[in-house]
Amino acid sequence: MDIAIIGAGKVGRALATSALKAGHSVTVSSANGDTSAALARDLGATAAESNRAAVNGADLVVLAVPYTAIVDVLDDIGPALAGKIVVDATNPLKPDYSGLATEGTSGAEEIQARIPTARVVKAFNTAFAARQADPQIAGVHVDGFVASDDEEAKAIVLELVKGMGFHPIDAGQLTMARALEALAWLNISLQMRHGWSWQAGWKLVGPDGDAA
Ligand SMILES: NC(=O)c1ccc[n+]([C@@H]2O[C@H](COP(=O)([O-])OP(=O)(O)OC[C@H]3O[C@@H](n4cnc5c(N)ncnc54)[C@H](OP(=O)(O)O)[C@@H]3O)[C@@H](O)[C@H]2O)c1
Repeated sequence: MDIAIIGAGKVGRALATSALKAGHSVTVSSANGDTSAALARDLGATAAESNRAAVNGADLVVLAVPYTAIVDVLDDIGPALAGKIVVDATNPLKPDYSGLATEGTSGAEEIQARIPTARVVKAFNTAFAARQADPQIAGVHVDGFVASDDEEAKAIVLELVKGMGFHPIDAGQLTMARALEALAWLNISLQMRHGWSWQAGWKLVGPDGDAA
């Protein structure tokens, strides 16, 4: 697949790494262009001159920017996302990391509401960048939860997630992004509370949960 990643920070770089390893083509863009150029040079991806240029011709677009940048990004590229699969890897964190900024909804649902003709899929947000780049820990495939109201788009992203090395789990409809964003927040708060190394990934164990 031709994958566009908007954002070339920790997540953009990590997902580009595992997507390229899985055999996909990756085009990246960033706010000032320097980080996307460096990422492209380091990993063998393509750097786009703008977010709009990145999404042109892409089969699938990954949003890997801070939650606070989402409105600007969607104002810019929203029309170009019509009909496209848009993977929301973001977490709607409060700027001071005191919790989630959303109440009674999710960042993913807010994004879908802003771009109603796009096919929004929540994925990758529960994994830290270290695990997005390498979703295995001692041979165990970290869970990759995927939620969307578009079943066909969700199936495509489940395959992508699996190909990148996660154990894919269909988490249900897009409203389940509320739970997935809370799951991400729980892991973030655990790292901060205990001084852990931001490496831990979620793994459901037991019958059916660890089937693959
Ligand atoms: N870090 C993690 O482990 C992790 C895990 C799961 C989910 N997330 C979520 O993923 C998102 C990205 O996190 P991150 O850690 O990768 O952040 P980051 O390292 O700060 O990188 C953010 C990237 O977004 C780019 N950006 C900002 N505004 C932009 C715009 N208007 N157009 C294009 N690119 C823009 C930045 O560009 P410049 O490089 O030019 O500044 C930068 O490359 C956040 O929503 C975060 O909550 C993070």
